Amino acid sequence: MTSSGLEGIIAGSSSISQVDPKGDKLIYRGYDVRELAEKCSYEETAHLILMGSLPNAGQLADFSSQLTAAREIPKEMNALFSEMDTRASVMDRLRTAVSCLGLFDPDNGNDSHDANMRKAVRLIAQMPALIAHCYYLPGRESVPKQNPKFSYAKNFLYMLTGQEKDDYSVQVFDASLTLYAEHGFNASTFAARVTIATQSDMYSAVTSAIGTLKGSLHGGANEKAMEMLLEVGTPEKAESWIRAALREKKKIMGFGHRVYKIQDSRAPILKKMLLEFAQKKRDLQWVQISESIERVMKEEKKLFPNVDFPCAVLYYELGLAIALYTPIFAAARMAGWCAHAIEQLDNNRLIRPECEYTGPTNLAYVPIEKR
Ligand SMILES: CC(C)(COP(=O)(O)OP(=O)(O)OC[C@H]1O[C@@H](n2cnc3c(N)ncnc32)[C@H](O)[C@@H]1OP(=O)(O)O)[C@@H](O)C(=O)NCCC(=O)NCCS
Repeated sequence: MTSSGLEGIIAGSSSISQVDPKGDKLIYRGYDVRELAEKCSYEETAHLILMGSLPNAGQLADFSSQLTAAREIPKEMNALFSEMDTRASVMDRLRTAVSCLGLFDPDNGNDSHDANMRKAVRLIAQMPALIAHCYYLPGRESVPKQNPKFSYAKNFLYMLTGQEKDDYSVQVFDASLTLYAEHGFNASTFAARVTIATQSDMYSAVTSAIGTLKGSLHGGANEKAMEMLLEVGTPEKAESWIRAALREKKKIMGFGHRVYKIQDSRAPILKKMLLEFAQKKRDLQWVQISESIERVMKEEKKLFPNVDFPCAVLYYELGLAIALYTPIFAAARMAGWCAHAIEQLDNNRLIRPECEYTGPTNLAYVPIEKR
């Protein structure tokens, strides 16, 4: 029996997160993500996902200082950044940069559990600087200097905008990182597990994951969703725009999900934050456009927004460049990817499915001169 796109197939077990198909609950290591998004910093969430438990105050201070101490990327990376073709997307550059970063990891060649944990901390810590270096144009724009006094989210936002954002913006951004941090056997995490299961290495696993996340059916959907809203332009045009798009059988980015059948539990949390944020800014244009699209999608296709739809609008409201949305997703998901790679390797078996052959058989070989 084949399953198109492996739909409905249980491809392994994991104790990292549970995705409830009804969308009622997403659980990280036993905790409801709604509560984590409201109460935890990204540092706490990353500790939970990676180490398996919520940190106490001392453990959090220790983990946060490890992350802060590991933030700077090796100087050797500068040569790569200065040579990168700026026509490539930030995700293309990031995929290459993460792969290159592995060359300079002090634990390169050591694939033990402890070494992989240290690599995970460095990878999570260095994503904001990597993304900033991939985003700003080499030689023409300077990359903001990291501030060791800032939390992970505050420093990340600062690196990407060059502005010290207010506490509320940081809080909302921080919550979005928690919501993006982990999601079971999604395509990019599965790619990471397949890679490391061959006894490859952590950097190869996360490089596979970044390449997989980039596609618009996965992480790339957040950028495409915002581009769509900009194309719509005004709330008055939203309904006719979306109805025409559906008539043309277009896929509407940021809607639908392979696992969730009723709703994506992360979307309402982000939607609420987006609404509060937009109300504070007294600018409801993008919220109104989103609401019209959401209403028509429900009416016409019975499809609901997934995490990427409200998150895209939230990032737009935060003043982030659209090209950064999927890279931010990658930074947040780094905690999940690393935890899965380590979990896979701790109890490893090669991941190697079979396929149903549908081509011809018994063809007679014809010498080249007779073909
Ligand atoms: C997420 C996604 C890839 C899941 O795909 P899937 O489980 O393979 O579902 P399918 O693509 O087979 O879609 C099933 C049906 O719903 C429709 N559909 C699903 N998502 C749709 C969307 N976003 N817009 C319009 N139609 C959609 C399909 O056209 C198909 O209709 P059909 O049976 O009449 O052909 C899909 O919903 C999608 O492409 N969404 C947009 C991209 C996105 O937001 N990705 C981020 C996911 S978190």
